[in-house]
Amino acid sequence: MRLGLARPSLSIFPPILSRANSVRPISCSSISPPPTSLKPQTPLFLRPPIYSATLSDLQKWQQWAKNLASSVGSHFTDLDNGPDPTLLHREINWLLQDALENPKLRSTHLGTDDGDTVMKMRAEMEDLYTLWKQRIEERRPFQYVVGCEHWRDMVLSVEEGVLVPRPETELIVDLVDDLVKGNGELREGLWADLGTGSGALAIGIARILGPWGRVIATDLSPVAVAVASYNVQRYNLQDKIEIKLGSWFEPLKNVEEQFVGLVSNPPYIPSDHIIGLQAEVAKHEPRLALDGGANGMDDLLHLCHGAASMLKPGGFFAFETNGEKQCKFLVDHMQKESKSSFSGVDIVSDFAGNKRFVTGFRAKST
Ligand SMILES: C[S@@+](CC[C@H](N)C(=O)[O-])C[C@H]1O[C@@H](n2cnc3c(N)ncnc32)[C@H](O)[C@@H]1O
Repeated sequence: MRLGLARPSLSIFPPILSRANSVRPISCSSISPPPTSLKPQTPLFLRPPIYSATLSDLQKWQQWAKNLASSVGSHFTDLDNGPDPTLLHREINWLLQDALENPKLRSTHLGTDDGDTVMKMRAEMEDLYTLWKQRIEERRPFQYVVGCEHWRDMVLSVEEGVLVPRPETELIVDLVDDLVKGNGELREGLWADLGTGSGALAIGIARILGPWGRVIATDLSPVAVAVASYNVQRYNLQDKIEIKLGSWFEPLKNVEEQFVGLVSNPPYIPSDHIIGLQAEVAKHEPRLALDGGANGMDDLLHLCHGAASMLKPGGFFAFETNGEKQCKFLVDHMQKESKSSFSGVDIVSDFAGNKRFVTGFRAKST
């Protein structure tokens, strides 16, 4: 568990530090296979502590890892707003916390002469060296190195092929939370999370719905479907969330006009901008999760058209965008093309004050 310090966030847009004091309340002991043949990786902190190392081995590794991190200087930051040594040093501690069965024991012995003390580990020492080299030399995202990301009050499994959920997206769950509090129909109804990735939004929303509320989540990526299913099972929500493989509304053909809510954080980066993103994102995160076409609007427009036919009259939608320009584009489009379909269309800012989300309702009279 990582306490007290903000976690790093991969920046698709200006970085926002996320909340830090997540707990990891759930075990992975009873997880059954996901509905794809792909087997998701177990996050480091959930792997069995079957390895061991002496405290002096760990101290040697830590010093080596710090030296490597320090050698980066301001290079990554200057290059593409990447991580600086301060952040990388924090990640070294987080990596150790995830790799050790009992991280507190290490702190107890720090600065003493107990170098022969044996610590139980979830990875071999050799793996720690490899993982940290990947982090620095290949700019592999820290979240892929440890196989998880802290998001709201959850710890979600992630791996290559699945977008690391971002802190700004958490606000969509807060918006839904506020909305369903006073509205039984929305709380007990059927929700959709389109392009679910790790399952973050689907799981966040399912956890705030009432006993009858359910979520269907879709994704075109088989890896995302496998990882989302794993996360759903880890939070024991398999009776509330159904994960479907397929493109946007295509797997939802039999449930048209039945949704009380529809949320999505679709790919919205303009194709040409991807190359200029932080290397952790551009080189390692799936293009399918990022690329929104020439102006980044391809998927947002598609979702907007589909929302009108998928939502029940009065149903709520929330779409995440790249920022103010895309928000305005989408709202203008809705007003021009499908004015009578929607009501209460609004632009909502994220925690950093950037216009980020377009929200609204399906009009009751269409
Ligand atoms: C920006 S990521 C968001 C992931 C997750 N909702 C989150 O917020 O962390 C976009 C997601 O849309 C998925 N996606 C891309 N094209 C899709 C399509 N045609 N149909 C369904 N999902 C798609 C990607 O695989 C990716 O998981």
